[in-house]
Amino acid sequence: MYTQSLDTAPALKAMPAPADAAQAGLQTRFDTKLDTSQKIEPQDWMPEAYRKTLIRQISQHAHSEIIGMQPEGNWISRAPSLKRKAILLAKVQDEAGHGLYLYSAAETLGVSRDQLLDGLHTGKAKYSSIFNYPTLTWADVGVIGWLVDGAAIMNQVPICRCSYGPYARAMIRICKEESFHQRQGFESLMVQMGGTAEQRTMVQDAVNRWWWPVLAMFGPPDANSPNTAQGMRWGIKRISNDELRQKFVDATVPQTKVLGVTLPDPDLKWNEDRQCHDYGAIDWDDFWAVVGGNGPCNKERLATRVKAHEEGQWVRDAALAYADKQKARALKEAA
Ligand SMILES: [Fe+2]
Ligand SMILES: [Fe+2]
Repeated sequence: MYTQSLDTAPALKAMPAPADAAQAGLQTRFDTKLDTSQKIEPQDWMPEAYRKTLIRQISQHAHSEIIGMQPEGNWISRAPSLKRKAILLAKVQDEAGHGLYLYSAAETLGVSRDQLLDGLHTGKAKYSSIFNYPTLTWADVGVIGWLVDGAAIMNQVPICRCSYGPYARAMIRICKEESFHQRQGFESLMVQMGGTAEQRTMVQDAVNRWWWPVLAMFGPPDANSPNTAQGMRWGIKRISNDELRQKFVDATVPQTKVLGVTLPDPDLKWNEDRQCHDYGAIDWDDFWAVVGGNGPCNKERLATRVKAHEEGQWVRDAALAYADKQKARALKEAA
């Protein structure tokens, strides 16, 4: 899924002045590339702060994809039909794939997979706070597809134009798959809304629980996002958190009418002057509590991830042993 504009990094310091003429030349070439919408590639010179920002963002995104497998994976064995099980399996596998593309993209910036995973497993690195909420009913699976993947698409489509080539290219494929995730969620909910009164209540309850955490996925308000301007200058961020959130609200409201659900926000209404919807205040204290490790499922998610990693050690050992054997054979044949 799912990046989150999780601007928890300290505000970037002013960019240091170039140390000498050679450095100034490199900086100028870098700036020209940004100004002319050329991609920055792994072998190109880049400012250290640009590299670090990308490593943080891409790895946070990769971690979110991998942790994001858990809330829905929880329902694979209980999906109500073979068709729903096949769809959900495919979706959860897609999320694993997204994580792998993104770890690979991060590795091109000179950080190892082990370092990235270590950051996640020790709790140093963040992932999207949305995955620290539980999936209580089958309707949650549909709502995650519809709203969480929907928010992810809104967030991620602009990253297809990110200035860093490997990240931008990974995002093009990821966004195509996220569209399928969003559609399957909406379709599943449509079927449930056409079912019994109990099913409709279940869908509405899931919408009520997920709506506000989904709005928070876009990250803190622009006024509290000190690094947005630098991210925009670098071509990493294209649209601000508040603008993306607004676009998402405006796109979602008509869909709720098709579905027959209401959004749990008494302040939500069309604003004729602004030509978009007004919406109520987001509970940022709750958001920061979850980001800080105190959400309903933070500990469980991390423990499950660490256990899966430890239990997969034999697979990594076997793959390495096999690769060594192949290499030794190739060397022997070449000799
Ligand atoms: Fe994904
Ligand atoms: Fe997804």
